[in-house]
Amino acid sequence: MSGALNYDPPGDLLREKIILVTGAGSGLGRAAAVAYAHHGATVLLLGRREEALNDVYDEIERRRLPQPAVLLLDLATANDNSFQELAVTLRQEFGRLDGVLHSAALGAQPLPLEHLAMETWDRLLRVNLTAGYALTRHCLPLLRAAAHASVVFTTCAAGHGVRAYQGAYTIAKHGVENLVTLFHQELASTSRIRVNALDPGPCATSLRRVAFPAEDPAKLRQPAQLMAPYLYLMGDDSLGVSGQRLDTRQET
Ligand SMILES: NC(=O)c1ccc[n+]([C@@H]2O[C@H](COP(=O)([O-])OP(=O)(O)OC[C@H]3O[C@@H](n4cnc5c(N)ncnc54)[C@H](OP(=O)(O)O)[C@@H]3O)[C@@H](O)[C@H]2O)c1
Repeated sequence: MSGALNYDPPGDLLREKIILVTGAGSGLGRAAAVAYAHHGATVLLLGRREEALNDVYDEIERRRLPQPAVLLLDLATANDNSFQELAVTLRQEFGRLDGVLHSAALGAQPLPLEHLAMETWDRLLRVNLTAGYALTRHCLPLLRAAAHASVVFTTCAAGHGVRAYQGAYTIAKHGVENLVTLFHQELASTSRIRVNALDPGPCATSLRRVAFPAEDPAKLRQPAQLMAPYLYLMGDDSLGVSGQRLDTRQET
């Protein structure tokens, strides 16, 4: 995937593509949704806070980009039925999905495992791992209906190594990276769906502030500065790339 970080996408890279973005109300998800719309996609903005999603919707409308849609769903409480209903709605309204970006995640304050409540553990695993699996699974028929489809899971350094005091978050991201490999192995030979992991690296967002309260956000990159690999993995220039982990720090 050499060059994905300096990728210079054509303006119409995602023209007529329908792309679902989770965690679209803030941070990297929001920046990606706007970038995808800017490159021609109809973006489906999924999140749990209507106000935040409407704000992104308005920004996209203000820029006269393809009309997006808002999908309200709390990934902490969503069950099989919720994902099934969402998939049915998407089939009725759009017929297919050309891409899914999993950006939603719950951040966690640093805490030793010894003091981590089981409810917190469950919630972090549910939002950061299980929801991505369930949403992808229920969207597979929609992804199969596209000429080529791209599923991108967001991972981080913790998903590759071990980060003390970020126990459940670390375990969830390890799970995400395994999930990418599993979906890739199970889908690559039988479908035109590619599945990859993207590690954006440190970035000034609310999740980051929760996990690293002592860090100066002014020293971090802004989400909008990191969009090249998000566009590369979602567009047709990454056709044939699957089961990979794109790490922004390795490619500079
Ligand atoms: N920032 C970094 O330094 C960094 C580095 C590596 C990887 N990442 C990854 O990048 C992705 C995006 O995170 P971010 O940094 O952009 O943080 P962010 O701005 O906090 O974005 C996370 C999004 O997930 C949503 N979310 C959380 N719980 C949810 C739930 N129960 N249901 C639906 N949506 C929910 C949040 O919605 P609310 O606003 O309603 O909470 C928010 O929009 C995450 O997967 C994160 O692990 C971030």
